[in-house]
Amino acid sequence: MTVRVAPSILSADFARLADAVARVEDAGADLIHVDVMDGHFVPNITIGIPVVAALNRVTKLPLDVHLMISDPDRYLDAFAGAGAAMITVHAEVLPHLHRTLTHIRHLGVKAGVALNPSTPVGVLSDVVAEIDHVLVMSVNPGFGGQKFIPHTFAKITAARQLLGSGDRAAIEVDGGVEPANAAALVAAGASILVAGASIFGQPDPAAAVHALRRAAEGGR
Ligand code: DX5
Ligand code: ZN
Repeated sequence: MTVRVAPSILSADFARLADAVARVEDAGADLIHVDVMDGHFVPNITIGIPVVAALNRVTKLPLDVHLMISDPDRYLDAFAGAGAAMITVHAEVLPHLHRTLTHIRHLGVKAGVALNPSTPVGVLSDVVAEIDHVLVMSVNPGFGGQKFIPHTFAKITAARQLLGSGDRAAIEVDGGVEPANAAALVAAGASILVAGASIFGQPDPAAAVHALRRAAEGGR
């Protein structure tokens, strides 16, 4: 299974996003993870559609857009138009998840579902065919630099059982990911490692990308 490293720009300097992205792109990062927060679904406000469009102009890497917002359906077309390659919506806010995922795919974008730490993997059982990736939150969403919740391992294992082999659907893990837990996360079935503080919170983000990838390869 190929493991992809997705630096989260939430921990980067927002006044120098292009530089931050260039540094991790040169270091071999696979995706750029963009955390969109609305101050309603989560207790924080970050960035939105214009910033995704601006990032799309300065990087070749696919933009992995994580929507922590209460009404994602209203904005799917705009995020796709801004250049998102992957859009992840939270199961907790979507009574019509099947419709939402179908719409994201219709826009030519990879469709993913994020699960809060308290949301069981079982909510996905009837939309498996519509999912390109699952994002397992390993912290409560809203902020970077939080402590990893160990129960995440059991959820990744359950998600992998539900989705089948890694080629069919990716499993992203997001929150508190660092070299110390990377191999175990990959061994459990994770195939995309999102990392903010352990990359952009480090003095040398490029070295941090290499360190995370090396550590992840230990779990394959
Ligand atoms: C948290 C966000 C994460 C965040 C992870 O709500 O979804 O993507 O950037 O940050 P770290 O890696 O610092 O825990
Ligand atoms: Zn995220």
